Amino acid sequence: MDMKGLNYSCTTCHVTKAHKISGRYYSRPAPGRHQLALPADDGERLACESCHSRRPHKKTDILNHHTDRVACQSCHIPRYARGGIFTKMWWDWSTAGKLTEAGKAIVKNDKSGNLIYHTKKGDMGWAENVVPEYFWYNGSMSYLQEGDRIPAHDGPLELNSLQGNYADPGARIFPFKVMRGKQPYDPVERMLLVPYLFGKKGTGAYWADADWVKAAAIGMREAGLPFSGKVDFIRTDMYWPITHMVAPKESSVECAECHRRDNGRLAKLTSFYLPGRDRWQLLDSLGWGLLGLTFLVLLLHAGLRLTSSSRRKNGNVQGGKS
Ligand code: HEC
Ligand code: HEC
Ligand code: HEC
Ligand code: HEC
Repeated sequence: MDMKGLNYSCTTCHVTKAHKISGRYYSRPAPGRHQLALPADDGERLACESCHSRRPHKKTDILNHHTDRVACQSCHIPRYARGGIFTKMWWDWSTAGKLTEAGKAIVKNDKSGNLIYHTKKGDMGWAENVVPEYFWYNGSMSYLQEGDRIPAHDGPLELNSLQGNYADPGARIFPFKVMRGKQPYDPVERMLLVPYLFGKKGTGAYWADADWVKAAAIGMREAGLPFSGKVDFIRTDMYWPITHMVAPKESSVECAECHRRDNGRLAKLTSFYLPGRDRWQLLDSLGWGLLGLTFLVLLLHAGLRLTSSSRRKNGNVQGGKS
């Protein structure tokens, strides 16, 4: 948006039609839909491609080869929460409710002034200048909603699941913030809880009476959902696509941050071959043998070319004669 630069407003990109703000909650162009090399914009303007086209790089054409598989944001937002702004990365509700010996609420901040513990809310973690995490994403995600049963899952429960993978031509590698935490759930009904938080003392509100079971019973009744009377905590992940805070072009993610053997930005995306990162095992072990073979083939080929070209010459001479 850069006040000293183009000084865009939110609605320069988030064009609204009939009160609908363009963006993933209402109407979002799929990443692949904007493909034309437009000199100006296509009237939608939400996607980077709407203004820049899919081939915006004049100097380095190899970058344009990436845009069908790597989202613009993956290279142009090298880090998020830049410029002294912290972002919340972790929220553990299971540690809420602790009191001092005198029975008073505890509030703790870190050196930068970020709230890291509150009796009402539990532990929190913050970070700045964060390298995003990268996943395949085709613009759609499915959400776990209020009242949904918690599905069988490995690792943390995903509150939203990203759609798309390497085989999906509409999907790109996209940068995300992953918000991690622990939240109250009902282990019998297998449902995230809707606790009653805010209210006066004696009403059962968690922030006044500090009783999860009471707060959950009231909240779930109010929401019209079943509650077994049991409260436990579950590790949750939520994926937030990163799309604002495009950095100056000089700070774009460099080739070697992805195309490298160890600890590259795409280290976790293993379903495809990435030059410079992956080795083809067979090629590795056959490497020298193949090189030798290639050399032999080259020699043979050169030999054949020599004989055939001398034959052609002869042919031409003959042709000329007739
Ligand atoms: C340069 C273009 C641009 C500008 C300017 C811009 N946005 Fe966005 N914004 C985007 C794009 C692209 C997305 C990603 C599309 C999507 O997933 O909805 C997005 C996503 C969002 C989202 C959804 C975030 C999420 O959870 O995925 C919100 C909310 C939002 N913008 C608000 C704003 C506000 C408020 C402003 C002004 C302060 C603003 N935007 C300015 C381009 C822009
Ligand atoms: C509403 C139109 C519009 C949208 C949408 C838009 N841009 Fe731009 N962008 C511009 C214009 C205009 C410039 C300045 C002219 C130029 O450098 O091409 C610019 C400049 C840039 C630059 C060069 C910055 C520099 O250091 O000189 C980058 C990189 C960039 N945009 C990336 C993006 C990315 C990534 C997105 C999507 C998140 C995006 N833009 C969305 C219009 C737009
Ligand atoms: C693989 C990483 C990568 C991807 C993907 C990528 N860019 Fe870039 N982009 C760069 C780098 C690096 C530069 C600066 C060096 C250069 O231009 O050669 C750059 C430069 C730019 C510039 C400035 C161009 C100029 O000539 O001054 C714009 C605008 C831009 N990118 C927009 C985009 C848009 C829009 C997309 C998505 C369609 C995109 N980029 C995708 C890495 C990338
Ligand atoms: C954000 C990570 C990222 C960055 C930065 C990046 N690449 Fe890539 N690159 C990829 C991915 C992912 C693929 C594989 C795409 C596919 O399989 O279609 C790829 C493929 C390639 C390929 C093979 C495919 C082709 O188009 O020839 C080359 C060569 C390449 N990149 C060179 C570069 C160079 C040079 C730079 C820097 C100017 C660069 N890459 C920056 C992610 C990246």
